[in-house]
Amino acid sequence: MTDSTRPKTPPKRARRLMSVFDGQALSPPPIWLMRQAGRYLPEYRATRAKAGGFLDLCYSPALAAEVTLQPIRRYGFDAAILFSDILVVPDALGRAVRFVEGEGPRLDPLTTGGEVAKLSLAGSGRVFTTVAETVQRLRQDLPGDTALIGFCGAPWTVATYMIGGQGSSDQAAARGLAYRDPQTVQALMDVLVEASVAYLDGQVRAGADLLQIFDSWAGSLPEDEFDRWVITPTKRLAAEMKRRHPHVPIIGFPRGAGVHAARFARETGVDAVGCDTAMPLHQIRSTLSGKTVVQGNLDPLLLVAGGQRLDEQARKIATTLGVNPFIFNLGHGIVPETPPENVARLVAAVRDIKPL
Ligand code: CP3
Repeated sequence: MTDSTRPKTPPKRARRLMSVFDGQALSPPPIWLMRQAGRYLPEYRATRAKAGGFLDLCYSPALAAEVTLQPIRRYGFDAAILFSDILVVPDALGRAVRFVEGEGPRLDPLTTGGEVAKLSLAGSGRVFTTVAETVQRLRQDLPGDTALIGFCGAPWTVATYMIGGQGSSDQAAARGLAYRDPQTVQALMDVLVEASVAYLDGQVRAGADLLQIFDSWAGSLPEDEFDRWVITPTKRLAAEMKRRHPHVPIIGFPRGAGVHAARFARETGVDAVGCDTAMPLHQIRSTLSGKTVVQGNLDPLLLVAGGQRLDEQARKIATTLGVNPFIFNLGHGIVPETPPENVARLVAAVRDIKPL
């Protein structure tokens, strides 16, 4: 591409959300919501029906870009998040992922060192290139002031699905294997760090402005295991991404980390920490806010309930945490039961916050 044919987009720092990473506290704070594209939106359901399966949607750049843009058109969020899934990585590694309607993801459980040794990045190029093509389209089609977030699952969370073969409330299969056979789990982590770097690198090269690492199951681990399976792999992933792309901010989302969150922020090298719904505002204020960029943490179920309570809690979070660099978000993803009008109400409440 020559300079004259390069798409004209404003410099990244012109995107409002990006300036929190320069240490600015914005009032009102920038806002986007985890799972902002999804089944609560009728237009998502229509596009999803056209695509066929869920992974067909992830692997169709035109349709994946379309569903990424849908919530931006409706609500004008400060950031779009690439429409894909954390389980694209195991799929690309040759562990075929299926999504069973109403039940969630299914994989063949991976339980031995021999199976880990067979994992290969050889076939991943096509998958990662397809997702990068979605990012490229988005960079062309998004408003210039909307930041574009790329993402992957953290190695531990992805491993829990690969080992268990499906989601579970206690991740017993992965935790058990990590005690019985830590070498196998370590080898799996090594592959997942490498694959996640390749996946994220493709997204950044295609135009992602910042990245989020989803560690949805970080909370199930005791201290030593938290260090070994959450902090260490995240730190390696972040370090390699920083080496390749020093100016691309990384948000870590160690859901359920609780008292480990501050150590996660200090030791992993991420630029921001996503806080889940259960984390008390006073803990966020005293251990994270002002030391790192904070993101979070409205209860997704309050977004379902709506009403005045929603406005009040949104205001409370934004005014408590917004004195330091802060991004407004939920504490976990939007659920399918969410009335779309409540999302509009939330955005209006947050945008109504007067300079602090
Ligand atoms: O809008 C966005 O946030 C971007 C897209 C996105 C999806 N999944 C789309 C999706 C992102 C960032 C994810 C991350 C993801 N995927 C996580 C981490 C965050 C979290 O929720 O804890 C996890 C654990 C997954 C794995 C996954 N994908 C599960 C367990 C499920 C089934 C549960 C469910 O909600 O159905 C999915 C499917 C999925 N990923 C859907 C969407 C919109 C629903 C599938 C559908 O349309 O049928």
